[in-house]
Amino acid sequence: MMMNNDGKENYLMTIFAIESSCDDTAAAVVSDGRRVHSSVVASQVFRHVEFGGVVPEIAGRMHCEAISGVVSEALAQAGMKMQDVDAIAVTAYPGLIGSLLVGVNFAKGLAMTAGKPLIPVHHLRGHIAANYLSHPELEPPFLCLVVSGGHSHIVEVKDYTDMRIIGRTRDDAAGEAFDKTARTMGLPYPGGVHMDKLAENGDPNAFTFPVPKVSGSPYDFSFSGLKTAVINTIHNMQQKGIEVPREDMAASVRQSVVNILTDGFLLAARDTGHTKLVLAGGVSANSLLRRRMNEICAGGKYRLYYPELPLCGDNAAMIGAQGYYEFLQGKSNTADMSLNARAERSIEL
Ligand code: KG4
Ligand code: ZN
Repeated sequence: MMMNNDGKENYLMTIFAIESSCDDTAAAVVSDGRRVHSSVVASQVFRHVEFGGVVPEIAGRMHCEAISGVVSEALAQAGMKMQDVDAIAVTAYPGLIGSLLVGVNFAKGLAMTAGKPLIPVHHLRGHIAANYLSHPELEPPFLCLVVSGGHSHIVEVKDYTDMRIIGRTRDDAAGEAFDKTARTMGLPYPGGVHMDKLAENGDPNAFTFPVPKVSGSPYDFSFSGLKTAVINTIHNMQQKGIEVPREDMAASVRQSVVNILTDGFLLAARDTGHTKLVLAGGVSANSLLRRRMNEICAGGKYRLYYPELPLCGDNAAMIGAQGYYEFLQGKSNTADMSLNARAERSIEL
């Protein structure tokens, strides 16, 4: 980025980005992978909360209703017109297929009518790229703990578009572990954030849960044992008419999830020799995870990065950031009008 004679910022490339993989309809304008001009997120959570989780059919319909308004708003907030942007990036995988298709088809329409290149972006690569927006100095290589509602991975980010999964969950994602246990405690969807708040006032050692052993891969996670133990403990207490101390339960669950994540992540850091450690995805907003990682990295051996809170959850700015680096890779990382959404796809691509 440079300044021209009249003091305006000059960019190499400005990207209009769309994200609709789950229950947020989002659009953003981002330059050179690092500078956010606008980022608009329309959450549908108020509709899904009554069902205790995302209802795919409703999500798809709500994306259809919201997307034109969100796109216009993102352009308006950036003070730009579609002609001012150089390319269109869109989350094409993974996610709910009916949700992804709305964003992908809208992006195809924009790219075709405005005559701009179309860049498909992997949702989890986008979560990682949120860190480039919060930390302009951050560059690969680094080790990243990607923890969202649908995925939990330890990813070696060798370069912006060259990634290797070295650990993964064998069952539930970290966000899912929070959401499912929170539901058992009667907390609203999505439970992770409510659990986090309750936990701040609880005793993390009030309940002890089993520590999972994943045979074969020391970097893999498992949360199903914890989930079952929490459900059993709560049901047992309810049957005996004992009131569940919600703060203590939340603090104990949160501590267990964070222990599982940090143990695997640090082992992977030690064995791979990476000293830049990065958190990404919705669960990277968790206060204990951030605190614990800060304590671990305070020794000076590791440098820690995580996104600002508004960039931890789903947003389109992160898709615009990653879209830039995908575009720099050349034609093989752009798409034509045959682009299709996919519910599943590895971050390694
Ligand atoms: O990345 P994300 O916004 O969506 C997916 O790609 O899945 O992640 C959503 C997940 C949900 O499971 C939500 O409960 C969890 O992130 N989450 C949290 C917190 N904020 C969001 N989990 C724990 N603590 C939080 N503060
Ligand atoms: Zn996400």
